[in-house]
Amino acid sequence: MSASRDPLVVAARESCAHAHAPYSGTHVGAAVRSTSGAVYRGTNVENAAYPLGNCAEMSAIAAGVAAEGARFRIAEIAVWATDGEERVLAASPCGGCRQRIHELAADGQVRVHFPWQGGETRTASIGELLPFAFTLPAAPSKK
Ligand code: THU
Repeated sequence: MSASRDPLVVAARESCAHAHAPYSGTHVGAAVRSTSGAVYRGTNVENAAYPLGNCAEMSAIAAGVAAEGARFRIAEIAVWATDGEERVLAASPCGGCRQRIHELAADGQVRVHFPWQGGETRTASIGELLPFAFTLPAAPSKK
């Protein structure tokens, strides 16, 4: 299956249409499949006080934790971004969201799908996107 027809990528694309991004004009959607098999969606939610805005990945992860509690772990995640019209934007997860994904990823091989230059959907593992990740000694161990 081509990555852009992957149901998780489709869910991220649908979610992107719900973004609240009146300030940047960058509409972002994310969809997380948890290890339970359930899919959780999120969008970016901007605020007139700019630093208060949420990233889409963060919203999707929050939805997963709200639904599954402490056992929530990410099996796979997809991101999609547009200019609010038809134009797809290249958008790999920001540094902060890489750290958020890492924190709750089932392991370092968890796949992250994102739109990249030329309309291509790229896939990388969270370990590739965030090598040498910060981890507290008390954090849950990763394989
Ligand atoms: N954004 C995300 O939703 N995810 C990212 O990983 C990077 C950036 C959002 C935040 C802001 O609403 C908009 O994209 C422009 O930075």
